[in-house]
Amino acid sequence: MTKEVREDLAKCAHVRFDEPMSAHTTLGVGGPADAFCDLETIEELKNVMRLAVEHRLPYFFLGGGSNLLVQDGGIRGLVLRLGGDFKIYQIGQDFGDEVLLEAGAAAHTPQLVRWSLEQGLQGMEVLAGVPGTIGGNVMMNAGTKLGCLADLIDEITVLDRNAREMTMKAKSLRFEYRHLKLPSTACVLRAVFRLKRSAALQGGPSLGDLLAKRRATQPVAEQSCGCVFKNPPKISAGQLIEESGLKGVRIGKVRISTLHGNFFINEGGATAREIMVLIRLVKDRVKEATGITLETEVVIVGEEKRR
Ligand code: EPU
Repeated sequence: MTKEVREDLAKCAHVRFDEPMSAHTTLGVGGPADAFCDLETIEELKNVMRLAVEHRLPYFFLGGGSNLLVQDGGIRGLVLRLGGDFKIYQIGQDFGDEVLLEAGAAAHTPQLVRWSLEQGLQGMEVLAGVPGTIGGNVMMNAGTKLGCLADLIDEITVLDRNAREMTMKAKSLRFEYRHLKLPSTACVLRAVFRLKRSAALQGGPSLGDLLAKRRATQPVAEQSCGCVFKNPPKISAGQLIEESGLKGVRIGKVRISTLHGNFFINEGGATAREIMVLIRLVKDRVKEATGITLETEVVIVGEEKRR
């Protein structure tokens, strides 16, 4: 990136150069991003995107970094992180028994889940215990056994690579298991959820119960990226990993959790390379033992480190 481009970028937004991505992922690994931009307003975002297109710089939107594996060579081009205005959420249209909840892409999902339940709204509990931001969670169609974001979405607003805002209704969105099909250059700006009004979670467990269950079955306090693999149809990838005798297996500073087989734990100072080797090993062993091919759920970005 030339000095001129760096200076232009610094005029548009708060930007850090050669920023280690290990500081911005829950897994705690990842090499440097050429430029890491914090964007507080739609104007800042549009200006930076215009610059990226003009200078043909690749760009990548970071959510909460909780489902992300950045390789050790880091990310060329721009990493864009939304904050400021994009953190806002509020109740919008009210239909009596149903309301629309509008949330900016940078809204913190655990906070929004708690708040919406406190408002007597039912629906967001399907995200109980899911980390990250609403933008990232929409892109991942995040969820739990109770359901996923696709069940709640009324519409989303995205920004395309020409910095045009576009609102898309739920029925035009192609949600899949842990994935929303959108161009990788598109950015989610806002999501609107259709939620039911209810005094309490009807018939279901409380948020506290759901979080306690998660703590008992998943290593939530350790450094990880959540589940590494998608669940194959009708079976848990964690169970397949356990049945293949892989729990506790370690490569360098990364270990397969002994609590839940689909979690890889960074024990301190792990590298992306170690995690990639462990992913390969698990895929091979599970295939050998069960005949099932696991697919990664964690999003892998960036370049390998040159040796
Ligand atoms: N199991 C094992 N061994 C293990 C892990 C699980 O035998 O090491 C068994 C459990 O005993 C249980 C079954 O597998 O009978 C299902 O386990 P669990 O309830 O933990 O759910 P999961 O299918 O492994 C999914 C999601 C999680 C989500 C939980 C709870 C995926 C890939 N995983 O896990 O999501 O938190 O349900 O709703 O969809 C994530 O997406 O990052 C994630 C953590």
